[in-house]
Amino acid sequence: MRNPREFAHPLAVGAPDPLLEIPVKPSRMIHFFDPSNPKMAAKLPDVAGATDILLGNLEDAVPVDRKVAAREGLVKIGREVDLGETALWTRVNSLDSPWALDDLLRLVAEIGGRLEVIMVPKVEGPWDIHYVDRLLAQLEAKHGLSRPILVHAILETALGVTNLEEIAAASPRMQGMSFGPADLAASRRMKTTRVGGGHPGYSVVADPDDTDPDAPRPTAQQDLWHYSIGRMVDACAATDILPFYGPFGDIGDALGCEAQFRAAFLMGCVGAWSLHPRQIEIAKRVFSPDPEEVAFAKKVIDAIPDGRGVHMIDGKMQDDATWKQCKVMVSLAEMLARKDADLAEAYGL
Ligand code: GLV
Ligand code: MG
Repeated sequence: MRNPREFAHPLAVGAPDPLLEIPVKPSRMIHFFDPSNPKMAAKLPDVAGATDILLGNLEDAVPVDRKVAAREGLVKIGREVDLGETALWTRVNSLDSPWALDDLLRLVAEIGGRLEVIMVPKVEGPWDIHYVDRLLAQLEAKHGLSRPILVHAILETALGVTNLEEIAAASPRMQGMSFGPADLAASRRMKTTRVGGGHPGYSVVADPDDTDPDAPRPTAQQDLWHYSIGRMVDACAATDILPFYGPFGDIGDALGCEAQFRAAFLMGCVGAWSLHPRQIEIAKRVFSPDPEEVAFAKKVIDAIPDGRGVHMIDGKMQDDATWKQCKVMVSLAEMLARKDADLAEAYGL
């Protein structure tokens, strides 16, 4: 147990006060880049205009012989590159790796004021968050930071999924969680070789036709990730932090990516990772609510100003609960419209 009152106090003398409300900003996509790649770094000011969050990745996909170059590349980017309003995050190496400690020491010292969120991979329980929480407080105090750096956990081991509620509630620094299907599949010993998305083998089949037992039988693919994403969304919503779907590895499969992102959006996720510029556009489309849904939600709110009672609108029953759903939709649309003039026009806001 942690004393809830202690949540309001820093974990090191001289560290900034914890944030008691997580900032909610447009977060439709976390676009990953490799900071050891100078060509990618040169494109960042342009990419920044198209994405809500840019994340310098230091962990998996960065080869061992480029780990230090990636860390130093991110320091240089954090110091020198103007990303406008776009948030800069990083994914550090896992806490049991030879690089995690230096990632944290060096990044907080050099660009701690620039990094909004540190994504911690392979979080297994609240103890991982407590470790990072205290270390960040010490580093923030040492380097005179005035704003706490937030922490985002990747849910990508069987133990992490088992402990996800405790992870979500482990610290006021917890900003959100991402669902990591590739590592999770390996940790669970699933028999897949993909990064996210569905699998045709995971399906149900209709009963045989008694009169024609050999006739083809309809099948329907099921969602391998539904259970875990559902638990993540509940844990995040219950603690007022933000859930994200993670990576979709088949870059050429725009339709599959869109379906995976949309399922996550409908279940309550606020965004997803993008691993390639073409996934930025998919995430933007999926995680910005449909103008027709927004128009309907506005109609319900206008028709029921106090949000009480039962009403029929366009033949559908509306009451206090549907009014709340409409509020969720319109608040998201309003937040996105403040950032994006095209969406403001599409939503009539
Ligand atoms: C992401 O890191 C994943 O393992 O899916
Ligand atoms: Mg992973």
